[in-house]
Amino acid sequence: MIRSVIKGTGSALPARKVTNEELAKTVDTSDEWIVERTGIRSRYIAGEGETTSTLATMAAQRAMDAAGIAPEDVDLIVLATATPDQTFPATATTVQAALGCRGAAFDVAAVCSGFIYSLGVADSMMRSGFAKCALVIGAETMSRILNWDDRTTCVLFGDGAGAVVLQSEDVPEDGPGVLLTKLHSDGRHNGLLHTDGGPSTTGTSGKVQMRGREVFRHAVVNLADVLQEVLKESQFSAENIDWVVPHQANARILEATAKKLGLPMEKVVVTVDQHANTSAASVPLALDLAVRDGRIKPGDLVMLEAMGGGFTWGASLLRM
Ligand code: ACO
Repeated sequence: MIRSVIKGTGSALPARKVTNEELAKTVDTSDEWIVERTGIRSRYIAGEGETTSTLATMAAQRAMDAAGIAPEDVDLIVLATATPDQTFPATATTVQAALGCRGAAFDVAAVCSGFIYSLGVADSMMRSGFAKCALVIGAETMSRILNWDDRTTCVLFGDGAGAVVLQSEDVPEDGPGVLLTKLHSDGRHNGLLHTDGGPSTTGTSGKVQMRGREVFRHAVVNLADVLQEVLKESQFSAENIDWVVPHQANARILEATAKKLGLPMEKVVVTVDQHANTSAASVPLALDLAVRDGRIKPGDLVMLEAMGGGFTWGASLLRM
């Protein structure tokens, strides 16, 4: 059967790491509060010359190197971001030019779920024969749309990028590849997590606004639901899963979701302590880390999941 197989992963972080202690010098907060409520200890913040496209390009290049493919092999780039370099053109086309790739390139806007959405879209396009080799990227510079005077949001986010190379391959039933992706959205909750501006309303990008408690409550329920949905349809059980690579919003959301599924935290890849919430970048960043440090191995059954503004949420089951 034809499947989209992950042939390589890559990631990139800005040069500057900012610890909670450092943040507490300019924001009315403390390391203790942030660690206790979120599990976050540090985040990376983009500096001059570092943008969503430069981070995305670096992550994608590393994924291509790991996969051993050349720019001319890539015929599709799907890039998830809520913080594009420009309102238009799509940041994916900037990355395409920087890498020297051809084919189709476009952005997907699903905020923190963006990478799962992009993986689902790229996988569908590959299964339909539109593309043979895709770069799927999640990249953000969330620091540029934070209100640094709002301690309820600015301590939670960070910048970064992650990428995978997907290649269309004829594999046996128990072989590698994306097995199943489920995507959902519910626009009625738009107001719980959003920016207070945009090109068509204020003519600005706006800044992040969030009702944290409500988001938390919806996240745990929606994530548990979509994970159950994927397990049911794929006919795997939670015990079959080798690794869960979740969106890294808050350590307490990761723990609550794992508990609901009956999964031990030893099977969950956690990077929120180091990276904070990097929105669309968080899942591919965590995936790359766990592949490179040898935790995730060929043949492993891996569940990716995310929930974000919209609300949007989804999960993808794959065999490495
Ligand atoms: N430092 C110190 N104190 C703070 C800070 C801060 N950075 N932020 C808020 N506080 C204070 C509040 O002012 C409040 O004080 P008060 O009781 O005197 O009024 C107190 O801490 C409690 O605030 P709450 O908002 O009730 O704290 P809560 O326990 O809900 O934690 C948090 C807030 C961490 C945002 C939590 O609700 C959360 O993680 N929600 C999920 C949101 C999320 O992760 N969104 C990311 C995008 S969506 C996604 O990825 C799933």
